[in-house]
Amino acid sequence: MNIVLGVSGGIAAYKSADLVRRLKERGCEVQVVMTAAAERFITPLTFQAVSGRPVRSSLLDPAAEAAMGHIELARWADRILIAPASANTLARLAAGMADDLLSTLCLASSAPLLLAPAMNQQMWQAPAVQANIATLRARGVDILGPAAGQQACGDVGPGRMLEPLELADMLLASSPVESLLAGLKVMITAGPTREALDPVRFLTNRSSGKMGFALAAACQAAGAEVELIAGPVNLPTPPGVRRHDVVSAEQMLEKALSCVAGQNIFISTAAVSDYRPQQYRDSKIKKSTEALSLALEKTPDILATLSHRESSLFTVGFAAETHDLEHYARDKMQRKNLDMVCANQVGADQGFDVDHNALSVFWPGGQAELASQPKRALAEELVELIALRYAAGFAGPHEAAAGDD
Ligand code: PMT
Repeated sequence: MNIVLGVSGGIAAYKSADLVRRLKERGCEVQVVMTAAAERFITPLTFQAVSGRPVRSSLLDPAAEAAMGHIELARWADRILIAPASANTLARLAAGMADDLLSTLCLASSAPLLLAPAMNQQMWQAPAVQANIATLRARGVDILGPAAGQQACGDVGPGRMLEPLELADMLLASSPVESLLAGLKVMITAGPTREALDPVRFLTNRSSGKMGFALAAACQAAGAEVELIAGPVNLPTPPGVRRHDVVSAEQMLEKALSCVAGQNIFISTAAVSDYRPQQYRDSKIKKSTEALSLALEKTPDILATLSHRESSLFTVGFAAETHDLEHYARDKMQRKNLDMVCANQVGADQGFDVDHNALSVFWPGGQAELASQPKRALAEELVELIALRYAAGFAGPHEAAAGDD
């Protein structure tokens, strides 16, 4: 998605550099356009470095216009987000002014306009600012925030710009894929599980939850109602998604069984521990012997349990493999009775706990390669595939067979 990020003059402009990074992580192309006042708070060079594109600020710059004219730029944008949007910028937009590049772009583009106001709390509450907000809202402009809290000037109250992560998620939630999964319910498991040995130790793996959370955000943006069952991860909940935190494989299974009624699609991204200690010790295991053997037992297979029980559920599994991706992925699809399986190469700096990923996707009678990209952009591509397969009417139960994970 192509984003024009307008930056106007305010202390929150320093957060907009991080916003560029967050948008790029989600696969967006970002063109920063600064007002003259914004350049007093942060340099164009900072934005050029994080966006990878020269910043635009002047309406009458022959060199910049020769590369991409302002009308071309207005057409290029899929979304225009102004963050921070100062009181002055809100007033100029409400009045329909066109005396600098940013205000002109807003008039010349048919792309949805989103504004993230940031100003002193007294200014935000001023009748003139509220009247401008009402005018802009009435024209269909999305106003994101502001949040309330401690302000740079020392005041406390409404007027803080929303955090970059929230803004990036809100922007993508308004993306054009919004109706792909409209009316559907999607349940997703994400992150690792922890299997306790004693009160202070557990078995787990390196899953960060990023892939599953990206899918939850992408499904929500595509119009689905999303239940996200998360193992222990340190990630914010995507806006509009209902999250359930669990710790162990057993708890993840219980939660999935209690949420599954009425679900249409189940995406099993979680890296569920395959084994757990046979015995949980109530007190800390003491270091008394040179060697210690642990007896492990299998955990319940959440994905296989649900796919065998729920014949009307479209089930998407993941296969984390270090070699022979296709062979093991197809084997899992058959044994776990899946409608689709997404294989990813895992290892040092691949798959687990990184921001990029690539997937080989298989379903009965077809396959697709999704190239390496930020997990959020990858999630959007996968959601499109899932929506297509779901709409095409998925194949019935597959033959179950024995094998290894
Ligand atoms: O979380 P990130 O850091 O972003 O990393 C993403 C990821 C690498 C964890 C993700 O892309 C991924 O591959 N998830 C599945 C990892 C895994 O456990 O794969 P598996 O091949 O061991 O399991 C196959 C399938 O069965 C998976 O869909 C898994 O969720 C499911 N399973 C496995 C065991 C079990 N007891 N219950 C299950 O439901």
